[in-house]
Amino acid sequence: MKILKATSQAIKKAGLIIQNGGLVAFPTETVYGLGADALNPLAVARIFEVKNRPRFDPLIVHIDSLSEIERLCLEVDDRARKLIQKFLPGPLTLVLPKSSLVPDIVTAGLPTVAIRMPSHPVALELIKEAKTPIAAPSANLFGRLSPTTAEHVKDQIGKKIDLILDGGKTTLGVESTVISFTEDDARLLRPGGLPLEEIERVIGEVKILRQNIKKPQSPGQLPRHYSPRTPLRILTKDVVIEKGIKVGYLAFKQPKKKLPYEIVEVLSPEGDLREAAANLFSCLHRLDESDLDVIYAEPVPEKGLGRAIMDRLRRATSEDIQNIKEF
Ligand code: TXA
Ligand code: MG
Repeated sequence: MKILKATSQAIKKAGLIIQNGGLVAFPTETVYGLGADALNPLAVARIFEVKNRPRFDPLIVHIDSLSEIERLCLEVDDRARKLIQKFLPGPLTLVLPKSSLVPDIVTAGLPTVAIRMPSHPVALELIKEAKTPIAAPSANLFGRLSPTTAEHVKDQIGKKIDLILDGGKTTLGVESTVISFTEDDARLLRPGGLPLEEIERVIGEVKILRQNIKKPQSPGQLPRHYSPRTPLRILTKDVVIEKGIKVGYLAFKQPKKKLPYEIVEVLSPEGDLREAAANLFSCLHRLDESDLDVIYAEPVPEKGLGRAIMDRLRRATSEDIQNIKEF
């Protein structure tokens, strides 16, 4: 495995690796993705192996041009068209009925495919060089923290893939918002980098899919999906921080006074939700690597990007990992 700075020469090389059925980790504006040729089922199968990901967890197909949507999807809902016009390229993934071009392994047998056109120049150039849409989940091991730097990718899966394109730290830091249009309603399957409020301003009310743990409609809804290995608790008024153990503290804003904990990570000194989202996974990675007994996280306001942050924090707290095995 190699890490290369994402120069145009390195991206050309990466494109060839994808064409030949290999795996390349690459930056997007949200998190790093682990990419393979979406139209090559064998290459896609390797993604599941590397991530230890259940086969039936569908992948997002990344495109570099909106015209690809017509090729990959059977039909495009009017509301989806509006969102495409307004927000793509960007941190929004649309679930639409798939065309026969998309292999079943990509969609885990579902009749729908998740489509995303990232705005990151390296991601777009890579797809262009590969001359094929790229199927890519986040480049982490299944159920673990998503990577926002090339280092995170290297630590989790570096040995098992062909190349990591290093494009520095990702700017948004949380995964894309996932919306489906397969039923009568538009549905939010995963809150993410594009705030729900902005989407609703364009297409009106979006249903928030209630979590159905027994039968998740989107595996991003697994209760524990973005987890550090260290136990994590969200601070509420009645949670008392334990004494005599090594505590890590995830603060939303710069604390007013010095806190008596082993490590304190601050998501955004001024309390800016965008900055907090960008730093979320790096802060959690650092805390997770610090040999702590427990991490306490301050809640953030649940609006805009705060919704995605709280969603990831809640999943990280769930001790019920039964459902992952079941899934
Ligand atoms: O920001 C992102 O979306 C990143 C970057 C790399 O693009 N990718 C990412 O992929 O987060 P992944 O595989 O970790 O998450 C994809 C989510 C999962 O929750 C998956 O279940 C859902 O999208 N999904 C994919 N295809 C679907 C489908 N056909 N129907 C419902 N949900 C789907
Ligand atoms: Mg993921």
